[in-house]
Amino acid sequence: VKIAVFASGSGSNFQSIVESAEQKKIDASVDLLVCDKKDAYVLTRADKHCIPVFSFSAKDYSSKEMFEKEIVAELQRRDIELIVLAGYMRLVGPTLLREYEGRIINIHPSLLPAFPGLDAIGQAFTAQVKISGVTIHFVDEGMDTGPIIAQEPVRIEETDTKEDVQKKIQSVEHQLYPTTIQHVISQLQRSVN
Ligand code: GRF
Repeated sequence: VKIAVFASGSGSNFQSIVESAEQKKIDASVDLLVCDKKDAYVLTRADKHCIPVFSFSAKDYSSKEMFEKEIVAELQRRDIELIVLAGYMRLVGPTLLREYEGRIINIHPSLLPAFPGLDAIGQAFTAQVKISGVTIHFVDEGMDTGPIIAQEPVRIEETDTKEDVQKKIQSVEHQLYPTTIQHVISQLQRSVN
């Protein structure tokens, strides 16, 4: 299965997905990175792994529809079957959603529906919850809504700093995303056969 990863930042999840694909732990190849930030570190990671990049700046377009149309054309040109959002800091609009209905997934660093939106780890930390975690879900038009595919809890100890929590969450993400992608791919393959 050909997948495209969308990311705006460091890309540690991108890296774990690429490595899982290279090591044949998942039945997929990462055939495109879509990135909306010109200086994101994820671009360097893509370069190291020779992964094609579609990079754009939203401000160069008059609307979301305009840049999403270009993204869709690029995805179709490369026969992309599944879109994996990994720290893509934008809401997906109707143009992409319509074209890839049920084939866009996202990872969020909390146990949704708790703490949606920006800085979920900071929100959980401030709320002093004892358990937070990671959620992977299908994407719809909402912010971190859509049917949940997988969740894993992470315990927050009283002595943990926000950075400690971040590290724990990230290490869960790097395991959970590849295994969940494999699960979604198996379902996609079953539905076409
Ligand atoms: C992850 O914590 C993910 O859950 C959230 O954005 C972060 C991306 O981190 N959606 P990275 O760029 O993959 O390191």
